[in-house]
Amino acid sequence: MNQKLDPAVKPRDDKEKIFSAIQPTSGLHLGNYVGALKNWVAEQKRYSCTFGIVDLHAITVPQDPKELKANVYKALAYYIAAGLDTEHCTLFLQSQVPQHTELTWVLNCFTYFGELGRMTQFKDKSKRQESVSVGLYDYPVLMAADILLHDTNLVPVGDDQKQHVELTRDLAERVNRRFGNDVFVIPQPAIKTTGARIMDLQDPAIKMSKSATNPSGVLFFDDSDKQLTKKINSAVTDSQTSVNPDNISPGIRNLAEIYASLSDISPQAVLEHFTGKMYGVVKKEVGELVTAILRPLRNEANRLLSDQSSLDLVLKNGADKAQQVAEATMKRVRESVGFLPRSK
Ligand code: TRP
Repeated sequence: MNQKLDPAVKPRDDKEKIFSAIQPTSGLHLGNYVGALKNWVAEQKRYSCTFGIVDLHAITVPQDPKELKANVYKALAYYIAAGLDTEHCTLFLQSQVPQHTELTWVLNCFTYFGELGRMTQFKDKSKRQESVSVGLYDYPVLMAADILLHDTNLVPVGDDQKQHVELTRDLAERVNRRFGNDVFVIPQPAIKTTGARIMDLQDPAIKMSKSATNPSGVLFFDDSDKQLTKKINSAVTDSQTSVNPDNISPGIRNLAEIYASLSDISPQAVLEHFTGKMYGVVKKEVGELVTAILRPLRNEANRLLSDQSSLDLVLKNGADKAQQVAEATMKRVRESVGFLPRSK
């Protein structure tokens, strides 16, 4: 059972590999920027990075086909506008690399029913759906395939995805144990603990999320300066009028977090800076910083979106690069499982 695989089909290099992804569903927002994009831009030069737009994940809940296409282009345009550079990282669209679905099937056969039933995100999401597809249930296995195909060492994700990365590790170890040690690289979650959580402006108890019931709590990339300013000015605070460091409400803490994560000043220093200031002044400063960051991002994304054929070419090159690594992994998997190669 422990047969060694042909080393020729295991291309590895020494630079640690990062894989992460965002779903192309409706608007990207400030939480995505601070929690993911901004870090990816910093990581792309230090690591070997692959970033996916995961449209196969998106269809685990109903999607309008036209909107899905538009959202893929938008996500790509914003990725590039935010500073992801295909000279330094691989950007690709998940559905254009069929190895992702292929590996999902194989991993399905190594995943237990109970394991998927325990996933807290599945439990939450399925409560919100009228009918629950097998795809939604299987979502974590597709994510495991994403990670394992690309020989990933590190997976930067939010807290809410940690359980999925742990499942990925379990599956990788299970398959390696079954067939020998060299099928999959065992990935690690990389959870950012500081500044990673931007909360909803209207309900600072919940994470800023595109699925929020009230869009006025979410700062979307597509919002105009006027809309952004309006949302920040009407952010929920508390019954005080100025910042008192001994009594900070979640709403004010969130505004300080937003300011800190966009300015790279520590949340503590930001709170000191805001101490004694009227809430109106705090909101004005936060609004100015947010618009100063999102305006050029939006303008650049719109410029890129006006040239769809260039974006198609970025996707094509990304898929070609991603597929090379994915196919090398699939070769190891097919050989391990006992699938016959198609003869030439
Ligand atoms: N499930 C992730 C999210 O919603 C997106 C995702 C899909 C992902 N595949 C991935 C993240 C692989 C990291 C690695 O945030």
